[in-house]
Amino acid sequence: MPKKTARSLAADRSKLSHKAAYALRNPARVAPYVRRALRDRWLRFRHPSHVDYYRAVMASDTANNPEAAVGSGSHDRWLALGQMQFGFLKQHGLQPQHRMLDIGCGNLRAGWRFIQYLDAGNYYGIDISPDILISAKKTLTHYELQEKLPHLTITHDLKLDFLPSGHFDVVHAHSVFSHSPIEVIDECLANVGRILKPTGFFDFTFDRTEGAEHQVLREDFYYRTATLVALAEKHGLSARFMDDWEKLPHGQSKIRVSLVDSPVPAEH
Ligand SMILES: C[S@@+](CC[C@H](N)C(=O)[O-])C[C@H]1O[C@@H](n2cnc3c(N)ncnc32)[C@H](O)[C@@H]1O
Repeated sequence: MPKKTARSLAADRSKLSHKAAYALRNPARVAPYVRRALRDRWLRFRHPSHVDYYRAVMASDTANNPEAAVGSGSHDRWLALGQMQFGFLKQHGLQPQHRMLDIGCGNLRAGWRFIQYLDAGNYYGIDISPDILISAKKTLTHYELQEKLPHLTITHDLKLDFLPSGHFDVVHAHSVFSHSPIEVIDECLANVGRILKPTGFFDFTFDRTEGAEHQVLREDFYYRTATLVALAEKHGLSARFMDDWEKLPHGQSKIRVSLVDSPVPAEH
């Protein structure tokens, strides 16, 4: 995962000039990009709704390699990215008795560590992709976590209406809003407050730009921090940029959302 630089934060990857310069610097990546762009064009034609389209992208990518489908180029990187998410939340006070919802849990890259750590039944993972959830069950079996009885559920939207009110200490979405148009994020922020405990929080990562907001292939979406903070506030939530996440070797940034008037969770 590339580190953020002033240049990468200003880049508009949707522009032809950016693509041409990138192609000149990385000629070996041109053919795979063209293949992906053609596949995505076909999938968008077949699936006009974003969630249906992205589910089809995940089906195609998972069939090739589930670890690559969640964004890890190697198994070592898959392990490291899971550890980064787990270590961060533990540092921020995650405890075994906490109840956690992992939105877009993928194939449990971090989820297996949360499941192992949390008390039985306290992990809920949801995802739009049946293919990646099948892979998630394989991860669960590989790490022999059956006794922890995690909940793994397919979803089509982020209304979260099947979950109880005031239930979760931690809601988490890693590398999900980086693949989401603004209406999907808006729906999540409109509903997440209901399921949070008063002291709970919702952490999500996003692809940050300091220039123009843009998207590439409707797979990768780049937002300004202020846009997402304002969206959270529109739904009566408070939001803060997580500076300590920025110190980690990860290309995305993180925002923490909590209920207004709740004490900010203690950092340990
Ligand atoms: C890059 S992967 C990250 C998976 C996991 N969070 C991790 O860090 O390993 C993104 C995941 O989010 C899921 N996803 C994308 N949009 C979603 C949505 N609107 N609701 C739920 N899951 C979504 C995808 O199917 C995929 O499994």
